[in-house]
Amino acid sequence: MREQRDQHPAGPRTGQHEEARAERLARRFAEEFGHAPDGVWRAPGRVNLIGEHTDYNDGFVLPFAIDRAAMVAVRVRRAGEAGHDVVDLASTYAPHGAGLSRARFAAGGLAPGSVPGWGAYPAGVVHVLAGADGADGAAVPGFELLLDSTVPVGAGLSSSHAVEVATVVALNDLLGRGLDRPAMARLTQRAENEFVGAPTGIMDQSASLMGRAGAALFLDCRTLEAEAVPLPLAEHGLAVLVVDTGVAHSHADGGYAARRASCERGAAALGVASLRDVPADADLGVLDDGTARRVRHVLTENRRVLETVERLRAGDVRGIGRLLAASHASMRDDYEISCPELDLAVEAATAAGAVGARMTGGGFGGSAIALVPAEGADRIAGTVTEAFLRSGHRAPDAFVVVPGEGAQRVR
Ligand code: GLA
Repeated sequence: MREQRDQHPAGPRTGQHEEARAERLARRFAEEFGHAPDGVWRAPGRVNLIGEHTDYNDGFVLPFAIDRAAMVAVRVRRAGEAGHDVVDLASTYAPHGAGLSRARFAAGGLAPGSVPGWGAYPAGVVHVLAGADGADGAAVPGFELLLDSTVPVGAGLSSSHAVEVATVVALNDLLGRGLDRPAMARLTQRAENEFVGAPTGIMDQSASLMGRAGAALFLDCRTLEAEAVPLPLAEHGLAVLVVDTGVAHSHADGGYAARRASCERGAAALGVASLRDVPADADLGVLDDGTARRVRHVLTENRRVLETVERLRAGDVRGIGRLLAASHASMRDDYEISCPELDLAVEAATAAGAVGARMTGGGFGGSAIALVPAEGADRIAGTVTEAFLRSGHRAPDAFVVVPGEGAQRVR
């Protein structure tokens, strides 16, 4: 039952909590800009259940959108309005004070590197939407945007993609661009690659755009064919616990790009366009040891995604635990993107009774996820925290996430 998601069918309505949040954001927007916004949109962060570093190899991923989201109130400047071309951004996330963090630039003629800090995410979307990267586009007028986010920054839960996705869904609606979800995913990926400068794949945006409440998103990253695979955690007495190690990661740093380059080298040496196309009986012995291990991770990880989907379709949620554990071992040993804190989070959670656990996202820091008995989530979080403190690490931030609905207009 795979479907091409051209339209995002109306999902469950956002909760009252989100509507109240949108209301507050619209009020704050009016205080800041002196008039009401045209609307408010939300875009969630994500965790990846399984399928890591497979997206840029045209492979399979199984992330889900979480119940934490970026929210933007936006008003497009009217024709003839003073400063018609000016984009004014403000964010409630100001690390060192209660004020707003602001950015301002002209919508036309943006160049990579020209907007520092978080403003680069909305700016990247404008840059790509306007076709400034060489693709077809129509001029984007100036606008005012106020951002508020409950996705923790730097935790590897795609807080930056949530900002990009919230911006693109808002502008797509307000400018009547008529882009479908896969097109918006590809567009925000270009914003990230070409403007922000991070050579990341398509998974995070897709999860934020196409996630469905109560389900994981089984995505073929070559075609962007997507299927919502039910993830009935509560019915099985389970929960997904996130352990944010607090170790900073950045996909603009060298490790991520180096892994990507190894995969490209491996594919070239094996004579295929991408690792997706490596036959099951391929001889990895023709590769140097390092490249062979990188390639082996991608091949085995793709298989683990397919097996996880099969288990979930069969209603065996607990059965995915050993696949999560195997995925982590593969990232630790073959892909070499874990770190002591991520390994400790996985080991401590598993020893305390998690059904399975693994690092999630790009690696080199960020968060781990653990599939845990729901009634044991607090206890397991406490045990993991104690293990961190005993090992001389800073206490992690541990919290339960629920598979939530993808990006949508809230008001
Ligand atoms: C980051 C990137 C994704 C993906 C993951 C690893 O989250 O943004 O595109 O490559 O790392 O699976």
